[in-house]
Amino acid sequence: MKKILLSLALLLTSSSILLADGGMWLPILVGDHIKDMQANGFKLTAEDVYSINKACMKDAVLQFGGGCTGEIVSNKGLLLTNHHCGRGQIQSHSTLEHDYLTDGFWAKSLNEELPCKGLTIQILERMEEINLQKFDVTNKEGEKACIEDAKKRFGEKLEYEIENFYAGNVYYLFVYKVFSDVRLVGAPPSSIGNFGGDTDNWMWPRHGGDFSMFRIYADKNNEPADYSPENVPYQPKQHFKISLKGVQEGDFTMVFGYPGNTELYLSSYGVDARQNVLFPSRIFVRQNIMDLMEEAIDADRTVRLKYTSRYAGVENAKKKWEGVILGLKRFDVINQKRNFEKDFSKQISNDADYSTLLKQYNESYKNSINVLRADAYFVESIYQTMQFKTGEKLYKLATISENLTPTELQKEAYSIYNDVKSIVSSRDKALERRLFTRLLQIYSDSCAAFMPDTFATIYKNNGIKNASDYVNYYYNNSVLADTVKLKSFIDKYLANIGNSQSKWEKNVKTMKNTLLKDPGIIYYYRFITMYFDKIMPQLRNFYNQNDNLDKEYQSAMIKYMPEKIQFPDANFTLRFTYGKVKGYEPNDGVIFKPYTTLEGVIEKDNPDIYDYHVPEKLKELYRTKNYGKYADKSDGKIHVCFTGSNHTTGGNSGSPVVNANGELIGINFDRCWQGTMSDINYNPEICRNISVDIRYVVFLIDKLGNAQNIIKELDLVR
Ligand code: ARG
Ligand code: GLU
Repeated sequence: MKKILLSLALLLTSSSILLADGGMWLPILVGDHIKDMQANGFKLTAEDVYSINKACMKDAVLQFGGGCTGEIVSNKGLLLTNHHCGRGQIQSHSTLEHDYLTDGFWAKSLNEELPCKGLTIQILERMEEINLQKFDVTNKEGEKACIEDAKKRFGEKLEYEIENFYAGNVYYLFVYKVFSDVRLVGAPPSSIGNFGGDTDNWMWPRHGGDFSMFRIYADKNNEPADYSPENVPYQPKQHFKISLKGVQEGDFTMVFGYPGNTELYLSSYGVDARQNVLFPSRIFVRQNIMDLMEEAIDADRTVRLKYTSRYAGVENAKKKWEGVILGLKRFDVINQKRNFEKDFSKQISNDADYSTLLKQYNESYKNSINVLRADAYFVESIYQTMQFKTGEKLYKLATISENLTPTELQKEAYSIYNDVKSIVSSRDKALERRLFTRLLQIYSDSCAAFMPDTFATIYKNNGIKNASDYVNYYYNNSVLADTVKLKSFIDKYLANIGNSQSKWEKNVKTMKNTLLKDPGIIYYYRFITMYFDKIMPQLRNFYNQNDNLDKEYQSAMIKYMPEKIQFPDANFTLRFTYGKVKGYEPNDGVIFKPYTTLEGVIEKDNPDIYDYHVPEKLKELYRTKNYGKYADKSDGKIHVCFTGSNHTTGGNSGSPVVNANGELIGINFDRCWQGTMSDINYNPEICRNISVDIRYVVFLIDKLGNAQNIIKELDLVR
């Protein structure tokens, strides 16, 4: 394999930067873009965005909870992110008496802020390109040496991460401060934070107030520290000013955050596999799950409580993939890619290192598509069944029994029992049985060649003809069929083993063998073994081969068609992207404005539709036009959300959206459905990010939450 050593900085300054159609740029290279940004209205300098010599915008942007972005908005560590990013924390502080998720929450003083166990915040200190000749970080030793070297230069207390870019052609070192004392400060009721719910998710026009507030705490020296009542609010190097000026169509916007994952340089074969096989498979399974869940949720309030967030998770990716397929078809991306590949093939035809690349992609996908498809089905169906998870727990009991002392075994056995109980109690029994039946049926119909071998025998020996028979057999025979049965089984299991040293070994073996015959364990064990035997090895081969091809393909693009690969795929490292406030035309004859207002929230209000319940207090603010200084100057309305042409993806949720002066004008929280293909193919005509207007956020804090303590703390500018 060809090894190329490229300096990204060199590469990008040597080729001219084209006006960006999308782009998730590395902050350290902001200097290469600043002219274009300024030409589009930006008023700050490169050093104002990213610098290691002075306080700058990057010091106010953070990774929130390992999956979202947030921004600091006061000199006391106050931060904003999305409601859907803070939801887990808000929920964990909610009880029947204090249902903060439903009713909202506002701490009226520092004392009332709620510590969030397990929540961490990362702030980037610096990044630097790794010289691969000095540190070959493609292997473990090189990585270690590189980090040791960095620790000597920057200190032991920081967090160090090495990430690869351009499919492994370039590497960067990232240095973070990681804060673990983070406290919940406030959130609107979920009827506002999650207004529109799954109905409006990925859609425009949008009317959600998707925000929540937290605060970072530090020790007396302003350094990260574990939770302690002694800790004090963190004093950041920089925080965002909040603009109440509002936005107009055409205004410059920039989004600064942590986009998770894109696949912009896929081959036509890769797009084809996703568009025609992998996404449709996943969508099909998820649709089945959603149908069953919906039925149960509609029929029973307790089922709704248990399944709301699980349903949202299933729906979120499914709807996105549908949007991706729609976009890929509409813009005929496969053929676009094929045409590109024709040109590209001509360019590289004389370069022996690259000339067979596309043929190899083709073959690799052709050879592996069945296993990729089986993997998709497995992960979406069998793996998702509750019975798979409980089977895994019980299987653990069998595998550990022999290596423990009687007391240890007792402790472990009951802890496994408790694990199973907590899985089961968070779910609905009848619904899980229906899901099990449906998912097993789907998997066995769709992936007959990837069924565990023993299943044919089990079916034959027990007169089982289909999934429904199998599920009956499971429920009649497994101790996992209900927790009472499981408890008495575990009591008996331990009693039969006893603790007499002389018989221990023999007894453990006997009991273990009975345990392994339980259909609950067999279901888990046979499927996971099948996965490891029949799917994993081929899958690993495919990914190894594909990763190598990607690396070569991208290095060839860099060499021969650099204008086609100006920035690396997203990899959950800090990026900035810029564009304009902009509407779009989703379909022929339809024009979408770039903003929505409170009138739209009121229009959607509907007591019969769960996602569209508008809280009484918000309706009252609307009726009395009690808008304070937050109404738009031109139309007197409260603006709620706006769209822009910024290239974002999952992980950008909660990202600051700033104006030409670098002031906060919104919080990014979604993309428009017709343009979700931007993860694979960015099209400036149709790809739009969605932000909540910061004026709506401050309006809600002030007028709905009446949190004057927070209003005072914010740096509001007009
Ligand atoms: N689509 C947004 C994202 O990908 C929001 C998801 C949360 N909201 C929801 N209704 N599921 O994360
Ligand atoms: N809601 C997404 C997130 O949680 C952002 C939407 C997108 O995928 O662009 O990051």
